[in-house]
Formats: sequence, structure tokens, C-alpha cells
Amino acid sequence: MDLFSNIYKNKRVLVTGDTGFKGSWLCIWLKELGADVYGYALPPLTKQDNYVTTNLASQIQHIDSDIRNKEKLQRYFNETKPDIAFHLAAQPLVIESYNNPHYNFETNVMGTVSFFEAVRNCPSVRAAVNVTTDKCYQNIEQSIGYTEEDKMGGDDPYSASKGCSELITNSYLKSFFSKDGTANIASARAGNVIGGGDWADNRILPDIMRSYKNKETSIIRNPQSVRPWQFVLEPLFGYLKLGEKLLSKGKSFSGGWNFGPYPNETYTVNDVVNEVKKIIPAIKTEVSSSKEKLHEANLLQLNIDKAVKNLDWKPKLNFKETIQFTIDGYLQELENKNLYDCRVEQIKAYCNK
Ligand SMILES: NC(=O)c1ccc[n+]([C@@H]2O[C@H](COP(=O)([O-])OP(=O)(O)OC[C@H]3O[C@@H](n4cnc5c(N)ncnc54)[C@H](O)[C@@H]3O)[C@@H](O)[C@H]2O)c1
Repeated sequence: MDLFSNIYKNKRVLVTGDTGFKGSWLCIWLKELGADVYGYALPPLTKQDNYVTTNLASQIQHIDSDIRNKEKLQRYFNETKPDIAFHLAAQPLVIESYNNPHYNFETNVMGTVSFFEAVRNCPSVRAAVNVTTDKCYQNIEQSIGYTEEDKMGGDDPYSASKGCSELITNSYLKSFFSKDGTANIASARAGNVIGGGDWADNRILPDIMRSYKNKETSIIRNPQSVRPWQFVLEPLFGYLKLGEKLLSKGKSFSGGWNFGPYPNETYTVNDVVNEVKKIIPAIKTEVSSSKEKLHEANLLQLNIDKAVKNLDWKPKLNFKETIQFTIDGYLQELENKNLYDCRVEQIKAYCNK
């Protein structure tokens, strides 16, 4: 089912960060919509990456390259002549940003500049979406959700770099993309996502599924922490909707857009563990006895009214379905199924919700 009025059919779409978790899912969805997809990113990090296990390389064109290489990025744009581009290539981890702040800022800040320069100097591009994060907002520990009008900020290097990426988007919008005939550009802010194909360290679902695979007990830290759990296709649905509107309706859809769960869809780590065990009762978990108090940021919520009202987008899955879709994705991998086909099936099931 095409939720995007057939807009992506036969379109040329460039995705930076296609070898990553979200980027690979986005490319599979775009292929299903009939797009010609061109990826630009560093090579996948491990054999377990969704890009590798789905054999995405056989479905799209891709170049292994660094976003900091602005000449190569520009050449790739000019050679592939995309109609629309999605920018997901980034250093995405807070911990890594503390370990290597210089690389983090180079990639996330100057990478965004290089992306918009490439868009600006490539006449075929009619629309572009920069993917940032809920962490781009200045976190003033408010309990109500941040709206698109709230201030940019970010204390840790990752959040600051994404706040900068937003400021850059706005600057390019006002300075270079406001006149008729220029590309329509926007940014998309979403929080943490879950889904099959994510095996990152120190995340609850990959940790549980890794332990299950290795027949070990998973140690649960912070069982009472509340997180905005979202299945990976929920924000991607938003990015694709945004792209559709930028292509079909133009500049009135430029600017920032929040994509997140409904404010009442907040559940604890413990709720997740219990829901997962309903699906796989054999999973063993143990709450960490460590007395060490790790800093836990308060739940950061996004106000999603603007997207719900204007983009014909809303979260489709409730909590139970979010966990079910996620665990199904992991189990298909553990059962050695054809993962490209499985991801397509999940996209279809999601669209039919
Ligand atoms: N996963 C989440 O929960 C989440 C939440 C909020 C925002 N985001 C944002 O979504 C985007 C994608 O995140 P993800 O979770 O898929 O991350 P990921 O680590 O799985 O993928 C990152 C992608 O960027 C590419 N990349 C990184 N550094 C690069 C460089 N120097 N040059 C070229 N390519 C480079 C990688 O090769 C990979 O393709 C990022 O912008 C991230 O900040 C992710």
C-alpha cells in the first residue's frame, strides 16, 4: 500500500547514511515505493548490520564514502541527479561524542553543511530532509513536550552538534532556499527508535535479544526508566510524508517537524521486559544489583501536534504492537529467514495498520 500518493515511483532518491539502522530500513521502503535509490555512507560496521543481513547492496546503488569529503559528495549528487535527498549520515551516539568530540562535530555539523551545499549546487534536487533528533532542543527539563518553536540547544557534544545541524538547516533555508525555483528543505526531529536489525551495545532490546541468542541472563539496569519507545517505521513514515509534501506542495512544508509517540504512550524498561517475555517466555532477565547511580536524563518529550495536523501522519502502533513488531524482526533474523523479504512484509503490515 502506498501512503505517499505514488510520489516516490520512479523518483531518484539519494540517502546519506544508508548503511545504518534507520537508513537501511528507509531504503527498503523507498525501493518498495518504486524509487531508484542511491546511498552514500561509510561501509557497514559489522556483519550483523541490517544493511548486510538484508543484502541491501544488491537492491540499491551505493558508494562507500565519508560525508566530510565535500567534493566527493557533490560529485555523487551531480552524477546521480536525485529528485530528493534524505540526510541520515551522522555520528549518532552520545557516548561516542564524549570520546571524540572533534569527529562528532566535523561529521554532524560540517557534514550537514556539505549536504546542503551539495543540494544547492545540484539543479535536479527539488526537496531535501535533514534528520536530526529530539535532543536538538535546549533541555530545560520541562514535562510538557517541546514544540518546533522551542529553542535549540544541547549540552553534550552529540546534542549540541544536532542543535547546530538544525541551525544550519534554518540558515540554508533563509539564505539559499527561500526563493521560488530553489529546493524545498526541512528537518525531522525524532527520538530513540527500536526494531529488528539494531544490535547496538547498551540498548535494552539488543541486549535482551543478544542474551537470549547466547542462552544467557540479561542484566536490566534502571527498570523504572521511562522511554518514548517507537518502532523504526514510525519516524520513517514521517520522513517520507515530509518528503512527499515538499515535492508536491512546496515551501509551506519547509522548516522543522517533530515525530514521536503520543504523550500518553510512555512505558518503563520493566514494561518492555514484561511485554517481551509474553512473546518469548524463555527469556531470562535479572535486575542489576549495582548501587552505582548512573546519570539518567529525564524523559524528553516531543509535541507532535504539527505533524499530526498538517502532514497526514500519526503514530500507528500502540505499545504492544511496537514490541511485537520489534521482536518479530529479531526472531526472523535468529531463524535465518530472508531478511529483505521479512522487512518488506513488516513495512506492508505497518502500512495496513
Ligand atoms: N537510532 C535512533 O534511535 C536515533 C534517534 C534520533 C536520531 N537519530 C538520527 O538518525 C540518523 C541515523 O541514525 P541510526 O540510528 O541509523 O545510526 P547508525 O549508526 O545506524 O547509522 C549512521 C549512518 O551514518 C553513516 N555515517 C556515520 N559517520 C559518517 C561519515 N563520517 N561519513 C559518511 N557516513 C557516515 C554510517 O555509515 C551509517 O550509514 C542519525 O542522524 C541519528 O543521529 C537516530
